Amino acid sequence: MNKKQLINLCAFIVTITLVSCANYVLPTASELKKYDMLAENMDITALERGRPVMVQNCVECHRLIYPEELPTAAWDEVLPSMIRKADLQAQDMKDIQAYVHTVIDSVKNGYKEKLAAEQK
Ligand code: HEC
Repeated sequence: MNKKQLINLCAFIVTITLVSCANYVLPTASELKKYDMLAENMDITALERGRPVMVQNCVECHRLIYPEELPTAAWDEVLPSMIRKADLQAQDMKDIQAYVHTVIDSVKNGYKEKLAAEQK
């Protein structure tokens, strides 16, 4: 690969990254529902609580970590200590966990692509 091709490749990667990140914010329960990401019988109360608890309490020491950045098992492992660090309750942990698991599954099931298709 020559230098020009390399520069083109880099530009391409940057563009793809920017395009795929555009407009993506941590989804709300109703957005996940709107894009048909939730099982029929799913109780969305926990999801509705989990997102704001996370956004408000989990950004004091580090940036907001998106659910899909880590595998489910890593979240399950780290969450109990983070709940203690953030001085939250057992119920908050259940809510955050439900939310995180659901977002990870939704991203796996094409949530971002559906969102991007809609926003074109
Ligand atoms: C008092 C500071 C503090 C608060 C509040 C806090 N964290 Fe953390 N978090 C850390 C530190 C320090 C680390 C890295 C070392 C460790 O794992 O303890 C970390 C690591 C993490 C990781 C692992 C990141 C990785 O790449 O492996 C996740 C996920 C996480 N935090 C989520 C949360 C969530 C969710 C909350 C809210 C419930 C939260 N944190 C609140 C300090 C905090």
